[in-house]
Amino acid sequence: MTTGHVFIATSLDGFIARKDHALDWLPQEKTEGEDLGYETFISSVDGLIMGRGTFEKVLTFGDWPYKKPVIVLSQTLTQDVISDELEGKVRISQLSPREIMKTLAEEGWKRVYVDGGQIVQSFLKQGLIEDMVITLIPILIGEGIRLFGKTDGDVNLKLVASQAFPSSGMVQNQYKFLYSKQ
Ligand SMILES: NC(=O)c1ccc[n+]([C@@H]2O[C@H](COP(=O)([O-])OP(=O)(O)OC[C@H]3O[C@@H](n4cnc5c(N)ncnc54)[C@H](OP(=O)(O)O)[C@@H]3O)[C@@H](O)[C@H]2O)c1
Repeated sequence: MTTGHVFIATSLDGFIARKDHALDWLPQEKTEGEDLGYETFISSVDGLIMGRGTFEKVLTFGDWPYKKPVIVLSQTLTQDVISDELEGKVRISQLSPREIMKTLAEEGWKRVYVDGGQIVQSFLKQGLIEDMVITLIPILIGEGIRLFGKTDGDVNLKLVASQAFPSSGMVQNQYKFLYSKQ
C-alpha cells in the first residue's frame, strides 16, 4: 500500500494560508544554519498529491517547483487546463483519496507527499496519512485556511521528533498517526 506523508508549515494558530491564500506570513528566506529537512523529505517520496487550492496557488509562483510527478485532485478541473510546460508533470484526477492511493500502489508508488488543507483532512479521515511533519511559524494570523478541521472523533498521535530552530523561532514536530490501517 502507498503511504501518505505530510510536510507543511502552519502559523501558531493553525493556519496554512490567509483567507485569500496569501503566504506572506511565511519566512520568505531560509535562515542561515537552519535546515528544515525539505530536501530530505521530498527525496523520500515518489510524488505528490495536492488539492486544487494548493495547485492553483503554486501556479502563481511562476516557476514550477516540483521535479517529482504531481497529481491534482479536483472534481472541477480537467486535464485541458494543464499547460504544455506541465504536460507529463501534472495529472488531474477525480478519484477519491482511497482510489488514487490504490492506483498509485499499482503504479509502484511507495510514499506520497499529501499537500493542501482540505486534502490532508480528507486523507486523514480515511486513515491514509502515516505521518506528518508540521513546522510551526511563530506568528498568529488570526484567520485563514486551517490545516485541521472537524474530525469524526478524537485522533491520537505519537510525537516522533521535535526540533526547535532558535534563530527563526520555528518549531518542527513530527507526528505519527495511531489509527489502525483500514
Ligand atoms: N503553509 C503551507 O505549508 C501550505 C501547504 C500547502 C498548501 N498551502 C496553502 O493552502 C491553500 C490551499 O488549501 P485548501 O485547503 O484551500 O485546498 P486544497 O486542499 O489544496 O484543495 C481543496 C480542493 O481540492 C479538491 N478536492 C478533490 N478531491 C478532494 C477531496 N477528497 N477532499 C478535499 N478536496 C478535494 C476540491 O476542489 P474541486 O472543487 O476542484 O473538486 C477542493 O476544493 C493554498 O493557499 C495553499 O497555498 C499552504
